[in-house]
Amino acid sequence: MAAPLLELENLIVHFKTHRGWVHAVDNVSFTIGKGQTLGLVGESGCGKTTTAFSILQILPYNAHVKGGDVRLKGRSILRDSVKEDGTIDPFNENIRKVRWKEISMIFQGAMNAFNPVYKVGDQIAEAIRVHYPDMSEQEIWKRIEELYDLVGIPKDRIMNYPHEYSGGMKQRAIIAMALALNPSLIIADEPTTALDVITQDRILGEMKRIQEETKTAMLLITHDVSVVAELSDKMAVMYAGQIVEMGTTRQIFKETAHPYTEALLGAFPSIKGDKKKRLKAIPGSPPDLISPPRGCRFHPRCPYARERCLEDEPELIKVGDGHYSRCHYTEELFGAGQGGGA
Ligand SMILES: Nc1ncnc2c1ncn2[C@@H]1O[C@H](COP(=O)(O)OP(=O)(O)OP(=O)(O)O)[C@@H](O)[C@H]1O
Ligand SMILES: [Mg+2]
Repeated sequence: MAAPLLELENLIVHFKTHRGWVHAVDNVSFTIGKGQTLGLVGESGCGKTTTAFSILQILPYNAHVKGGDVRLKGRSILRDSVKEDGTIDPFNENIRKVRWKEISMIFQGAMNAFNPVYKVGDQIAEAIRVHYPDMSEQEIWKRIEELYDLVGIPKDRIMNYPHEYSGGMKQRAIIAMALALNPSLIIADEPTTALDVITQDRILGEMKRIQEETKTAMLLITHDVSVVAELSDKMAVMYAGQIVEMGTTRQIFKETAHPYTEALLGAFPSIKGDKKKRLKAIPGSPPDLISPPRGCRFHPRCPYARERCLEDEPELIKVGDGHYSRCHYTEELFGAGQGGGA
């Protein structure tokens, strides 16, 4: 069988601070197949962006990779870049070949990523020129027109300045930029959270269409579960630096197998409002990642926590076909093989 497009294997990334080590990403593993979308969800501060930055090797200077690897099409792209002390040179050759051409990223808060003093078209053209110095100007501008068609911005807006775009248009242009070099994977970190709900819904719909058209795989990062529901094939739920549940989107929603996922789904209303669910906040707040709780990291907030959860750290165990949960009592709480759900 061909290797998946992207594989993360036991990735561990900690930040060195004067208070101690921040355990931002602890043993994270997942795979994304060609053309597939994985939704990575979890509350603020659980390590989503750090995971994404590790893939692209754009980590802050105090980040140390303590273990694990990232593979693209079966080829390791991380291990050889990590220096002896765990740090990474963001300009190393391994990743420079991959960044933008193979994996591009829509950054969190990217709405203002365009430089206000240059026209949007010129900024996209420059990005293409840097990576394809041999491409003719004519080809570059033809590509930009194609991209504008694809993301649904009228071509006569190519030479506008960023401030002349609406929020939704800026976000479309950012998507065009991410697609410019035809990558096989786009990492989208909270791509729509800065937009109003109506525009958000429209852009998400467009993203789904574009993705189907271009067959680009996506790592979709968000704290808003309703965003991933329609776009993702698979989901990984992160809590305090770890994946606590992973499975198909259907399994996560219909065969929920972890108390944190259950709480997270309860805390977000369905985007379509088809189910009149009561909006419940998850009690308490995520732990300090310098000294995460012993045992299960979720135990201080878990309504089902028992003695064992305080001491014994649960592993990510298989609960169904491609479905995993990090909970000692998953079977007892959610039933083996599930099928029922909430
Ligand atoms: N440079 C850094 N130095 C120290 N700690 C950091 C650094 N960057 C991030 N952190 C910490 O690492 C943890 C994970 O942060 P990260 O940004 O990956 O979370 P996130 O899931 O993307 O959150 P959000 O939803 O708010 O974007 C947090 O506790 C954060 O405070
Ligand atoms: Mg983030």
